Amino acid sequence: MADLLLALDVKGKSEAVRVAGACTGEVDAIKIGYPLVLSTGLGIVKDLAKAGIPIIADFKVADIPNTNSLICEEVFGAGCSGIITHAFCGHDSLAACVDAAHDHGGVCFVVCEMSHPGALDFLTGENAERMAGMAKAAGADGIIAPATRPERTAILRDIIGTSMKIYSPGVGAQGAQPEDVKKYVDGIIVGRAIYESADPKSAAHEFRVRAR
Ligand code: C5P
Repeated sequence: MADLLLALDVKGKSEAVRVAGACTGEVDAIKIGYPLVLSTGLGIVKDLAKAGIPIIADFKVADIPNTNSLICEEVFGAGCSGIITHAFCGHDSLAACVDAAHDHGGVCFVVCEMSHPGALDFLTGENAERMAGMAKAAGADGIIAPATRPERTAILRDIIGTSMKIYSPGVGAQGAQPEDVKKYVDGIIVGRAIYESADPKSAAHEFRVRAR
């Protein structure tokens, strides 16, 4: 049984509020990222928070520890409850994000393996497995692993165990189905298949039911 996270990669406040409002009651969290925040500013978090849904900032943070801490201060100060970071910058950069999240009562998720075909160039195999180990050692709350390659997500689950969560993108537009991956993960992440639908609420409802 997996939660449903909406990847709200729309542009502009009115579209974001429209889709989020339509999906209220159908999604367990909203994931925001650069497309939305660069088009609206971080103030969008307060607008979306009115729906009462937790908001996770997918900024795939990848810098030196001090810069990562500064980014996290802005994210949590704006009202987000979670941050998604990369791990490949090293244990100290990763620790900066985990510590900042926990200092603010939030959660930190670590990208271990990506869902698109190009992930096979670097973000897979031993690299991904090593980053899963780093995420566990750092005390992160969970990892991001692909629905498009469920066999890889199963391997990463074995590394982190059951005390950490896995959120999994790739369902819908990237071709994966909830049924492919739900037994390995705690949440599926769906973007275009919901926000580009003529009826986002019904689309979200269907994914929610299929993720259960
Ligand atoms: O529209 P779609 O459902 O493909 O959106 C997937 C979302 O998950 C996007 O926001 C994308 O940036 C994100 N993501 C991903 N693969 C990863 C990590 C994040 O697709 N490994």
